[in-house]
Amino acid sequence: MSSVTLRVADSIDELNLTAAESLTRRAHMAVEARGGCVIALSGGSTPRSLYSLLAQPPYAARLAWRKLYFFWGDERCVPPDHADSNYHMARESLLAHVPIPSSNIFRVATEAGAPDAVARSYEATLRSFFGSPAGAVPEFDLILLGMGPDGHTASIFPDSPALAETGRLVAPAYAEHLKSHRVTFTLPLINQARCVMFLVAGADKAAALAAVLAGDLSYPAARVKPSQGDLCWLVGRSARSP
Ligand code: 6PG
Repeated sequence: MSSVTLRVADSIDELNLTAAESLTRRAHMAVEARGGCVIALSGGSTPRSLYSLLAQPPYAARLAWRKLYFFWGDERCVPPDHADSNYHMARESLLAHVPIPSSNIFRVATEAGAPDAVARSYEATLRSFFGSPAGAVPEFDLILLGMGPDGHTASIFPDSPALAETGRLVAPAYAEHLKSHRVTFTLPLINQARCVMFLVAGADKAAALAAVLAGDLSYPAARVKPSQGDLCWLVGRSARSP
């Protein structure tokens, strides 16, 4: 890993502003260096307010939307207009409000069939976009992640098959506690990113976060260790309580 940083924010507003500034800075660097910035969005509830912030001044004007490309680090196997869809959440809070070409948005085609077929289809989309030769792992400029109270991240849950996946970039997953079929980036893809940014808030995550930061690998989020990239933890004060 290039660097590991931990920022503790006293409020959700501060957390989002810190994340928005960092994302904007990294996007500018990527566009300067490679002509574009490829971002994987996270789902759940925490990032919604960050996405809304990015859709407003000053960020809406500071980001080169035509040079940003959006994927999802995981998705629920529901239609794109379903309330549980991570794509739906990002579209409603951000993508519908900024001048980004629809061709720059790569949602998971959850209508492609069973979760395994959906995962294979999304992996093919990824590989086609990056032009990656077989066996190579694409390098995202930024992967946003959240973390659940059980230490899951994306849809890599404790003791799940996706946790041990080393060949596939995208795998099917099942959230037992939610009875929810999903697809998820796997650790090889996540750990190839130039930057992985965790956004974690809520006292219900404090115990898992402490264990993850202590390196307890029984928690999937502890296995996020970018091989070359930066690892940034942006954490709300209540999630970092001792
Ligand atoms: C999802 C997310 C998942 C999420 C965590 C935290 O699809 O649910 O990708 O990994 O980031 O469960 O969710 P909250 O932000 O709602 O606490």
